[in-house]
Amino acid sequence: MQKNQVRKAVIPVAGFGTRLFPATKVVKKELFPIIDRDGRAKPVILAIIEEAISAGIAEVGIVVQPDDQEIFADLLKNPPKKELLDKLSPQNKGYSRYLEDLGSKVTILLQEEQLGYGHAVFCAKDWVKDEPFLLMLGDHIYTSDIEKSCASQVLGIYEQVNQSVVGITKMPAEIIHKAGCVTGVWQELNSILSVTQLYEKPTIEYAQQHLHLEGMAENEFLGIFGLYLLTPKIFDFLAEHIKQNFRERGEFQLTSCLEKLRQEEGMTGYIVKGNCFDIGLPEAYRQTMIDFRNFRLI
Ligand code: UTP
Repeated sequence: MQKNQVRKAVIPVAGFGTRLFPATKVVKKELFPIIDRDGRAKPVILAIIEEAISAGIAEVGIVVQPDDQEIFADLLKNPPKKELLDKLSPQNKGYSRYLEDLGSKVTILLQEEQLGYGHAVFCAKDWVKDEPFLLMLGDHIYTSDIEKSCASQVLGIYEQVNQSVVGITKMPAEIIHKAGCVTGVWQELNSILSVTQLYEKPTIEYAQQHLHLEGMAENEFLGIFGLYLLTPKIFDFLAEHIKQNFRERGEFQLTSCLEKLRQEEGMTGYIVKGNCFDIGLPEAYRQTMIDFRNFRLI
């Protein structure tokens, strides 16, 4: 295997999705349907797995709650019930076979306790082993503005720079208090950045003082897009936080470990040429249903 070849992707889907209660009392948000470009109604997780596989990823690890193992296996590992299969159109029968093939590339990993996004990533440590990996959020889907998909763009940058890459996007000041933000020094104006700081959910005052970037409008900052290419070193920092019980807002978070990873190994920020659609909030999900198909070039 080439040193910087990326074969694995991790998608944590073990959260509770409290912001989508009561729907998430019975349906995981990562299983909410969206209508994809091909006109199919797909669970969100499927669109994310397809994005990873089409970018050249060979194996996908999804991190689930123990109680949800069965439902994800039903989607990705088990064929439809015979009665259902018999009734499917020839096209859908074909899709079902494709789904089984896709499912054979997926490994279901467990997060026994819901201790946060960073903790869920840590649960993939033994499966990832000592390789760089693509990390994707379980409740975001992407459309690219160019031929290359968003995941392939991030993979391409990693091959170029050979250090961890964080996908970023320009964000208006009003929403940065809900996002992870980064700042740094442009390597390529408005595209590639040497990251000098990552900071979770900054206030506008903090951002104006510390996160502003040359060439960007006063009220615009760089926020995390939700696609990362990380070296396995990230697990050391996550392990350290878990061992020391270092929690932020009650949970083990990823961003503070990304900041440590950056300090140790350096990190590149890349403005992804595309759109990121959040499905984790009612209004965002509604908007995603409308926009995702229309925006979708690739
Ligand atoms: P979120 O930050 O959206 O948290 O997780 P959440 O619990 O799913 O949703 P809310 O905030 O209660 O509405 C980001 C991603 O990380 C996963 C989620 O499934 C989602 O894909 N996650 C989060 C885990 O896998 N485990 C956790 O303990 C927390």
